[in-house]
Amino acid sequence: MVVLPLVTTKEMLIKAREESYAVGAFNANNIEMAQGIVSAAEEEEAPVIIQVSQSGGQYAGFEELGAVVKILARKARVPVALHLDHGTEYKYNLLSLRYGFTSLMFDGSQLDFEENIKITSQIVKAAHSADIPVEAELGKIPKNPDEFSLDELKQFMTEPEEALEFVRRTGVDSLAVSVGSMHKMTIQEAKLDIERIKKIKETVTVPLVLHGASGVTDESVVKAIKAGISKVNVHTHIAKGFTGEVRKTLNDNPEMVDLRKYLADGREQLKNEVKQKMRIFKASGKA
Ligand code: CO
Ligand code: CO
Repeated sequence: MVVLPLVTTKEMLIKAREESYAVGAFNANNIEMAQGIVSAAEEEEAPVIIQVSQSGGQYAGFEELGAVVKILARKARVPVALHLDHGTEYKYNLLSLRYGFTSLMFDGSQLDFEENIKITSQIVKAAHSADIPVEAELGKIPKNPDEFSLDELKQFMTEPEEALEFVRRTGVDSLAVSVGSMHKMTIQEAKLDIERIKKIKETVTVPLVLHGASGVTDESVVKAIKAGISKVNVHTHIAKGFTGEVRKTLNDNPEMVDLRKYLADGREQLKNEVKQKMRIFKASGKA
């Protein structure tokens, strides 16, 4: 058996950028989600990023989830990175470093430009001392789809020139951009601003990250990857798959009490959803 420890997202994303595919980044909030994601990556022979969001870490424990992912990575036949998703505080970025995460994210999108640069730079400095890369966010990718219509997203979108200044001044390793998606959408209906992605890619040299991909049509995601997206985050879509399957099993078996029976069904469904996404991202076979 080939033993691979966790890898960082640095080389993973540079390779993806060069070869015009995207690495899928999937959120895990428990052991079954993490297992389903790793199984999918092995079956697709795809590199994979498992993300623990700040709120996911608060739910299940950064150290606990981190330990699970590390063990799964060691046994996996494909490269696995452990990434902090949407760390909105310096504190949680440092905690994740301490618990062995191999990729961080500082989300300063709620802050003004200068404040975002200031805190991102501080985290980059700390993380780079430990050879760990950092993703940051510029422009806003709304977290509540009830708050805005898709047409209203224009006002939040990332400006290429600002992106250039942001990357130069922070030294960040990858950049989450606002290009027409929103988080937590349960229907795939958003279409991205492909021209904007192209312009940002021509302007900055670091890999670009798409958040909120659950709400974007597959066709638009494929175009976005061609235009320069190297990492695609998916949470809502796989959570919907997992939960839907659990709900179905429980509805069909109202007497069921053994958690293993319905969680295994959710895990299998999630695995299949992740595999489908990896194929759309052209990451299959890239491990
Ligand atoms: Co996100
Ligand atoms: Co699906």
